[in-house]
Amino acid sequence: MNRIKRIIDILMTIALMCLMAYQVTGEAAHEWIGILMVLLVIVHQVLNQKWYTALFKGNYHAYRIFSTIINVLLLISFTLTAISGMAMSNHAVPFLYGIISVNTARVMHLAFSYWSFILMGLHIGLHVNVMTSKMPKNVKAVLSIVMLLVAGFGFYLFIKSGIINYITFTTHFAFLDYEKNKALVFFENFAMLSFFAFIGHNVAEMVRNIDK
Ligand code: HEM
Ligand code: HEM
Repeated sequence: MNRIKRIIDILMTIALMCLMAYQVTGEAAHEWIGILMVLLVIVHQVLNQKWYTALFKGNYHAYRIFSTIINVLLLISFTLTAISGMAMSNHAVPFLYGIISVNTARVMHLAFSYWSFILMGLHIGLHVNVMTSKMPKNVKAVLSIVMLLVAGFGFYLFIKSGIINYITFTTHFAFLDYEKNKALVFFENFAMLSFFAFIGHNVAEMVRNIDK
């Protein structure tokens, strides 16, 4: 079961990296990967259904409140991203084209895709301990130094990228650089995701200390 969970986690992360590289994949592939991502996220929810059944049981301590807020916001943001994407579909699900006015869908998709990206980074950060629990100590130590450097670079890229304007609905069109090296597009998105994972992980550690 845990093995299947880990495989789904990795597939979702790869799909997310491809979705955020819209200028590399082009529209048709983007739509199909978007559909695949929706299916993976549904499987991920089924595998974690215990969380849903326990939602209204037990006490809410600081860490549980924090992680619940992230999960609920992520679920809402991801659903809005998927629906608005489908409302603009020309390839994968064209019969859903226009279920929301395409102008509204465009603005929604831009803002909520980046919100989902940020929230997924934070969410991954909350689960770093689970995902690395089987790694030897020295591998973990090297990995944490590398990730610190990558996350630092990710912070710089995030400030420079204009994503802040997308998530605050200030800019209604994405400025995607189609000339940029394709591998670099992936690496830069990965660095930004790592920055949010780093924040998620460290805030979670602080909040866990409050509980102690
Ligand atoms: C819309 C997207 C997603 C939603 C709504 C979501 C929701 C959830 C929920 C409700 C749980 C159980 C409660 C918890 O432990 O916090 C969970 C666990 C987890 N999530 Fe996600 N998640 C999403 C995407 C991702 C992605 C992209 C990753 C990538 C690594 C991921 C990694 C994990 C991990 C490692 C766990 C612990 C259990 C497991 O491995 O399945 N999640 N998620
Ligand atoms: C579910 C996760 C998804 C994420 C994270 C995501 C992310 C993105 C990003 C970053 C862009 C480029 C910025 C923009 O122009 O808005 C984009 C554009 C686009 N996406 Fe998605 N997307 C997702 C799902 C989908 C799905 C399921 C579809 C359709 C089936 C779709 C259709 C489109 C279209 C048509 C565009 C071009 C929008 C335009 O011309 O303004 N997306 N998406």
